[in-house]
Amino acid sequence: MTPALRTLLCSMPKAELHMHIEGSLEPELIFALAQRNGVALPYASVEALRAAYAFTDLQSFLDIYYAGASVLLHEQDFYDMAWAYFLRARADNVVHAELFFDPQTHTERGVPMATVIQGLKRACDAAQAELGISAGLILCFLRHLSEDAAFQTLDDALPYRQHFIGVGLDSSERGHPPEKFARVFARCRELGLHVVAHAGEEGPPEYIWNALDVLKVERIDHGVRCLEDPALVQRLAQDRMPLTVCPLSNVKLCVYAQMAQHRLPELLAAGLCATVNSDDPAYFGGYMNDNFIATFEALPQLGAQDAYRLAANSFDASFAPAGDKARWRAALDACFAPSAA
Ligand code: ADE
Ligand code: ZN
Repeated sequence: MTPALRTLLCSMPKAELHMHIEGSLEPELIFALAQRNGVALPYASVEALRAAYAFTDLQSFLDIYYAGASVLLHEQDFYDMAWAYFLRARADNVVHAELFFDPQTHTERGVPMATVIQGLKRACDAAQAELGISAGLILCFLRHLSEDAAFQTLDDALPYRQHFIGVGLDSSERGHPPEKFARVFARCRELGLHVVAHAGEEGPPEYIWNALDVLKVERIDHGVRCLEDPALVQRLAQDRMPLTVCPLSNVKLCVYAQMAQHRLPELLAAGLCATVNSDDPAYFGGYMNDNFIATFEALPQLGAQDAYRLAANSFDASFAPAGDKARWRAALDACFAPSAA
């Protein structure tokens, strides 16, 4: 990759739309919070924890990810975690972030919903005020749990309705198809919440169809397995349905053996509204710019036009107001103007 392309990837403004805030907990912060809160960890050191990050599939990652989140107890812990992410996001020229959070991971341990949401919301407000980053929260239901549990979570969260913009669906994909959550998603749509879902990360194209047709999502998180079904690719292109793709995640979780095998170029060539995101950056080896650099380095057919398209897609696919989107798009255009190259 040329130094000019690398500079462009790093300096261009971008939105992050697929980032689990609990997946931004770096091992150092996990240990600091464990000490602060008197939580025992099954790892002797930061190095021992990091050494355990050798995943074979989604579930092998989720087991460690949920263990890491067990150090979060107080509102300040949620604030500190999100603030650390926002500092990284600013360094990567992320101007807008829509963050997933997993309340059931915390409420099941006795942490009140208010603690989770208020800590994260306070960090989002500080990101806007102090860093100029706009941020929204997306509440994810854990799909390995029941739809009743999702309804209970929604009820618990509704007193804080003004603090989150939408709902999502994450955790173990295989065996937990989107239609398991048809009724709770219908209720969320009635409430005016945005709706997104992980689909087609490890699960088959059928899960993407059902996320679209049953859950009526506005974005598909991951979605890379759509390429196995040409009719689905056509549908996604026709609807300009965004896919929040996470390249480093896909390699770490063995969706692709190596980055050189990632199919982002095909998604773009098919005219899909693909975006690049970091998923769980503390676990997968990098934040936004690390994802862009690793992808463009391994796939030399990607160039400046693709970089522009990915950043423009990230703004288009966001749930931000039209005025903000236009402003970010103008900043992106300025970045790609000939005099800026
Ligand atoms: N929770 C955190 N990261 C996830 C991922 N990549 N897929 C499903 N659930 C998740
Ligand atoms: Zn994810």
